[in-house]
Amino acid sequence: MKLFDVYPLLDVTITKGQGCYVWDSNGAQYLDLYGGHAVISIGHSHPHYVEMMTLQLGELGFYSNSVVNPLQRQLAERLGKASGYDDYQLFLINSGAEANENCLKLASFLTGRKRVLTAQKAFHGRTSLAVEVTDNPRIIAPVNAGGHATYLPLNDVQAWEQELAKGDVCACIIECIQGVGGVRLATPEFAQGLEEACRRHGAVLICDEIQCGYGRSGKFFAHQYLGIRPDLISVAKGIANGFPMGAVLISPRFEPVYGQLGTTFGGNHLACTAALAVLDVMEEEHLVENAHAVGNYLIQELRKLAARHEVITEVRGRGLMIGIEFSVPVKPIREALVYQEHCFTGSSGANTLRLLPPLCFSTEQADEFLKKLEKVLV
Ligand SMILES: Cc1ncc(COP(=O)(O)O)c(C=O)c1O
Repeated sequence: MKLFDVYPLLDVTITKGQGCYVWDSNGAQYLDLYGGHAVISIGHSHPHYVEMMTLQLGELGFYSNSVVNPLQRQLAERLGKASGYDDYQLFLINSGAEANENCLKLASFLTGRKRVLTAQKAFHGRTSLAVEVTDNPRIIAPVNAGGHATYLPLNDVQAWEQELAKGDVCACIIECIQGVGGVRLATPEFAQGLEEACRRHGAVLICDEIQCGYGRSGKFFAHQYLGIRPDLISVAKGIANGFPMGAVLISPRFEPVYGQLGTTFGGNHLACTAALAVLDVMEEEHLVENAHAVGNYLIQELRKLAARHEVITEVRGRGLMIGIEFSVPVKPIREALVYQEHCFTGSSGANTLRLLPPLCFSTEQADEFLKKLEKVLV
């Protein structure tokens, strides 16, 4: 059997990772500013993570959600404290799309409504409703085009308010820093205005923190820069450092109903152990603070680089989620970084290089990257 060929691949086989570096099958070392698409939060193969996962696998890898799982309760308590959402409830699933899917279902169950407001350039995943509220017609199959989504400009609060006033909206979903959309930031005025308009019109505010959350922005959640407290928060990617996991943080406004939501794999013993190990390391190594400090340094140095290289037109982002906008296509730059300089980065659209390194990225590694980038620009 052949693989279903949907991924355009870089011609590199990664066989090993440690911290912010990975190695290919020929033993060559690469600096990783991609983290497997913002997934590696505490660094590759962190010894504490490896130890906890190994011990857990020796005890019990999986049992279903029909029995008490103390690890889920520990995770809910720890995540509540770490994120400042002690009073919220936690529902565990396996991916980002599934987290958003469940957010949208909860909003619709609560309000009895069907319409969702979402931002232009938004990306929320590839399943049923998650893909419908994603602003990319190429990945919305006819079966997903159910007419539930209205796409509006990010930061234009009046446009959102106008739609909310029609009274049929169950939820507004936003990424406070758009990832796939090109590292675009929601403003505090927009976020606060939207939160207030959602309350007034009986709609649910969902923040998709799957890419920008879990410490990446330099605060636990990116929306915590904006002075809002959403009703639902979706997370995935960094939550378990590569073990497939997603979660929804649910405000006390929502009453759980037996059987209304569910999953076979979600919140299994190994996934919870991975998430607990991630929280241990984030706390012990102050990774949210590190993302803030190193991110600020890297953004400042990139802006200096931009002053010397006209092709860089803008540097934007927060913490270790950074977009470098070029006046030229970034594909050759990204490929030169991989093949010549041995450095992984991401991209958004044709012109933006997207940096999503592990949250343990250091200033020395930031300097190493700056040198590599400058080399491929000259
Ligand atoms: C903001 C955002 N939401 C949702 C998703 C979907 O997550 P997953 O691929 O785990 O389903 C992604 C993935 O890139 C994302 O960046």
